[in-house]
Amino acid sequence: MFDKKTIRDINVSGKRVLVRVDFNVPLSSSSTAGLSVGEDTRIRAALPTLEYLLEYGAAVILCSHLGRPKDGPDPKYSLKPVTAHLGKLLGKPVGFAEDCIGPVAEKAAKALKPGEILLLENTRFHPEEEKNNPEMAGQLAALADIYVNDAFGSAHRAHASTEGVAKFLPAVAGFLMEKEIQYLGAAVAAPAKPFVAILGGAKISDKIGVISNLLAKADTILIGGGMANTFFKAQGYPVADSLVEDAALETARELLAKGGTHLRLPVDVVICDKFEAAAAYKIMPTGPIPDGWRILDIGPETIDSYARVIKAAKTVVWNGPMGVFEFPEFAKGTFGVAQAVAGSGAVSIIGGGESVAAIQQSGLAAKITHISTGGGASLEMLEGLTLPGVAALQDK
Ligand code: 3PG
Repeated sequence: MFDKKTIRDINVSGKRVLVRVDFNVPLSSSSTAGLSVGEDTRIRAALPTLEYLLEYGAAVILCSHLGRPKDGPDPKYSLKPVTAHLGKLLGKPVGFAEDCIGPVAEKAAKALKPGEILLLENTRFHPEEEKNNPEMAGQLAALADIYVNDAFGSAHRAHASTEGVAKFLPAVAGFLMEKEIQYLGAAVAAPAKPFVAILGGAKISDKIGVISNLLAKADTILIGGGMANTFFKAQGYPVADSLVEDAALETARELLAKGGTHLRLPVDVVICDKFEAAAAYKIMPTGPIPDGWRILDIGPETIDSYARVIKAAKTVVWNGPMGVFEFPEFAKGTFGVAQAVAGSGAVSIIGGGESVAAIQQSGLAAKITHISTGGGASLEMLEGLTLPGVAALQDK
């Protein structure tokens, strides 16, 4: 249940609408054209909101951050390359203002007519953005009559363009924000059972809150990726050269004690003697790792047993790869899990950049119920936290 107002609940016709999107997308450089958009899922995901607003006669002013610039404007982090890309997707020109506040932005916003669209330069070119400075929020708000937040990927940040600005204008959600919160919220609050969470990636420390929250809700949590090594070490197995988080060993012990049989670790692993795609490798049951070797993936028995658990599930949430899937020999765990999730028939939700990339590479994305555009934001939802960018919006 989404209890915030959306763009459906207000009249946008003839209004200037400031839309916070998450266009924090990878840019790649080509020698002829300079920087251009590399991967555009987040841009496409915002299209339903933008098309709706334009169709209903709003003048649309977009703002976003890109990357983490620290010292003011930096061409490497300019949103300018996004304008041409978005223009192609929308089939209409997208204007660009070289600043997101101040005279340049004000002039461009004022000149905008209903049905036209403009992208403002990176909000993080002003350090006030991340400080949630009220003056900056007020300046952003002065550009428009209505504020729409469709930047789910940034909704866990309380910044001037994601939270502060909502205090100055009628503030509602876009369609992407609504969809993300509906799927992720329902998965955590009222999942169809059995509910299985698959958690991978390098670090336990990034996911302590998620594991703790899901232990109380999920029937089973399947662990893979580098974080499994820290659990192995906490159980007393030497992990040799494997990635491990010594600072998180105590936490890992606590989670193991709390999780009992609900928290499942790999029963076998793929180990190799170098961190290289072509490294010599072998499969071994979970146990002490020989000196000079490291764990790079879950083993075939684990893939089978995880697949059985996933097949019986009615709700599956997946965040984080099972191994170093950039190397084909060590991608079998991640792709095996991707296949199991896609074929499960369960409500399936995938979040986090790497697991999303894995499902896309596997060609199975169409079989997933919801692929989140949020990394940190989707984790905070799974942790059961309230996102400041959502909390700031008007209630229904
Ligand atoms: C993301 O990529 O997760 C979001 O755009 C947020 O970016 P940030 O972690 O730099 O705030």
